[in-house]
Amino acid sequence: MTLTVALSKGKLLQGSEALFRRAGLPFPGEEGRRLVVPLDGLRFLFVKDADVPTYVEHGVADCGVAGRDVLLETGSDVYEPLDLGFGRCRLVVASPRSGGFDVHAASSVRVATKYPRVTARHFLGHGISAEVVTLAGSVEIAPGLGLADCIVDVVETGRTLEENGLAVVEEVAASSARLIVNRASSHSRRADVSRLLDTLRAAV
Ligand code: PRP
Repeated sequence: MTLTVALSKGKLLQGSEALFRRAGLPFPGEEGRRLVVPLDGLRFLFVKDADVPTYVEHGVADCGVAGRDVLLETGSDVYEPLDLGFGRCRLVVASPRSGGFDVHAASSVRVATKYPRVTARHFLGHGISAEVVTLAGSVEIAPGLGLADCIVDVVETGRTLEENGLAVVEEVAASSARLIVNRASSHSRRADVSRLLDTLRAAV
């Protein structure tokens, strides 16, 4: 039976394609806008970053490629057997370079983020009372517009922070792309999953 692989349509897509091709595995080419693509013994699902763990946790996909940042946020119950080595970035707290707001000196902070659970946990762990404002993207503009004192977001090159007048205050977590596997599939489809895992591991 065919293994189903959930992949992100976002930033991890390029790295996923490069890895699959390096490993000699099939990978869909220009398929137009089809989001479910069967190809040479694998079936690919192309979904939103944050939905990859959901498809894998529920067993709709046997495995997938998800960022550690997303896995920390969703807390999905999946195996995470392999760091794929691409999609490296950092989840950080960042605040305006000017304005003198000190996250650690404040008694409470308002934080804008796409990662509400990670953010709440981080500030709780530091004993800081945080009001979390959840956004879907372009989080970097929130402090300048008065929606938040600081943000928790992903930094890759640092350009988006730089160009929006923000600076890193502290790191919350390091992230990279991970292979994730459905818990039931890892037993019921052990041979197929192991073969895929070994093939990918050799190409990382
Ligand atoms: C991500 C992240 C930052 C940016 C960081 O956004 O949320 O905005 O990339 O990259 P940089 O450090 O290289 O500038 P994404 O492109 O996923 O868009 P979004 O903000 O709309 O989610």
